[in-house]
Amino acid sequence: MHLPSGLAGLVSLLSLSRRDEFSFEPDSHPYEDAATGLKFASYASDRGVIYRVAIPAIIPASAELDTVLQVVAPISIGWAGFAWGGTMTYNPLAIMWANGTNNVVVSSRIAYGYYTPPLYEPTKYTLLEKASFINATHFQVTATCKGCTKWGDDEMGYTEVDVSQDVTFGFAFSSNSVDAPEDSESSFAIHDGVGHPIYDLSVAKNDDFAAKVAAAL
Ligand code: HEM
Repeated sequence: MHLPSGLAGLVSLLSLSRRDEFSFEPDSHPYEDAATGLKFASYASDRGVIYRVAIPAIIPASAELDTVLQVVAPISIGWAGFAWGGTMTYNPLAIMWANGTNNVVVSSRIAYGYYTPPLYEPTKYTLLEKASFINATHFQVTATCKGCTKWGDDEMGYTEVDVSQDVTFGFAFSSNSVDAPEDSESSFAIHDGVGHPIYDLSVAKNDDFAAKVAAAL
């Protein structure tokens, strides 16, 4: 079919904008961590806070799998948070901060509204000590998570993260320190940055996940 050139231009412009509107390129990039040997999908926010996720190669049908979260933040960041369900409320949140000169903290929370999220017991984080540190410029937290890909209860219902597809996670960070850095139950004030990056987890699959995690404990 031959269209007048003006009309053809309009048609191609329309199809381009439709494609832009409906295709979601991932915001994450592949990253391999030297300390653990794990492969991650990695996203860096505007203030240089980096959020990485690694998963095992074999995904159980139950959607219950261990994950690894690695967060690298400039020392000027008071706390950095990661939302496994992509929004602030009703999903497991990991809140990480530096405590003094040699300890990092990861605290499991859930938000039921737009206020300081209380502790969330069902989700468990275990620090991978060999890949967690504080230095002169940054702190880094690497931790396994149990319960970060499937959560819920009879009241709020159950949610599963389908790691075989691109996944939208959420993050938040603040320049202000938490109120009691030595206490993993500390309160803290609102973020000054949030986002909803899309992760391509096909690059974050690890054949020898359990062995690499065990070696980094
Ligand atoms: C004292 C603690 C916190 C307070 C008072 C707070 C408050 C708020 C408020 C008022 C909004 C804006 C809602 C809107 O305009 O639509 C918001 C959005 C958001 N917050 Fe928080 N927040 C806190 C902690 C956190 C934490 C720990 C995370 C962890 C990742 C987080 C993640 C987000 C995200 C991703 C959004 C964007 C909207 C959404 O996806 O739900 N927040 N928060």
